[in-house]
Amino acid sequence: MVTIKSAAEVAKMREAGKVVAEILAATSAAAKPGVTTGELDRIAREIIERRGAASNFLDYQPSPHVNPYPGTICTSVNSEVVHGIPSARRKLKDGDVLAIDAGAIVDGWHADAAITVAVGTPSEKVTRLIAVTREALRRAIAAARVGARLGDIGHAVQSYVEGEGYGVVRHYGGHGIGRAMHEDPHVPNLGTPDRGAPIREGMCLALEPMVNVGRPETRVLADGWTVVSEDSSLSAHFEHTIWCTSEGPVVLTDPGSGADERIGRELGTLRRVPA
Ligand code: MF3
Ligand code: CO
Repeated sequence: MVTIKSAAEVAKMREAGKVVAEILAATSAAAKPGVTTGELDRIAREIIERRGAASNFLDYQPSPHVNPYPGTICTSVNSEVVHGIPSARRKLKDGDVLAIDAGAIVDGWHADAAITVAVGTPSEKVTRLIAVTREALRRAIAAARVGARLGDIGHAVQSYVEGEGYGVVRHYGGHGIGRAMHEDPHVPNLGTPDRGAPIREGMCLALEPMVNVGRPETRVLADGWTVVSEDSSLSAHFEHTIWCTSEGPVVLTDPGSGADERIGRELGTLRRVPA
């Protein structure tokens, strides 16, 4: 069931979104050669605790056949696409591409976002992969207009990414978000314009293109979580939680500025992505 969120509800999701943005800023700043992904997870845990939030990733169990997720963030390195498990044994090295996915719950309301960064000095290949995936998310958000359809979002991502010669991961996608981290609808990163469910005023969506330098196919490692590209090619992931309004999509997981503190009284101060 697709639910519609009020401005008051979205104000709480924005609070969760600010915690997520803080986690992404702190962990990406700390992601230097020699640092472990386990250390990044500790930084995320401390921020959640300091902000009085809760983790929606830790112990997440999509089905009884899967082990509860053991981290507060996902850290996916190089050919890892998503859901890489942070580890004290995984040291980042110069040139790695690192996707960090983070979520938080405030007063029962969820936010979810991801960024990809280069560790140390990036190769041209890594720089371009990150730029294309970030732009794919920007286009997805711009396509999420009230009155458009989910296929418009998928088409915006797929046509751009494939035009750049990369593979769009098909097996995973975006999702509704609110009282739960994963709500209806599923939001594929591929599609046909003017097809799929309509985007309605008040919907909250987590949009998250995953892009492989090579083929789009993926597989899951024996740990039950880590998704890797089948052809071992490098992969990147960006995600934002957005609120769909008649004035355009509002990004709830943006770092924002001081003006955003007025959220709740003045939702109009949030950053809107131009159509
Ligand atoms: N951000 C991921 C998503 O959008 C959720 C991470 S799965 C978890 O589906 F197990 F790490 F929580
Ligand atoms: Co998500």
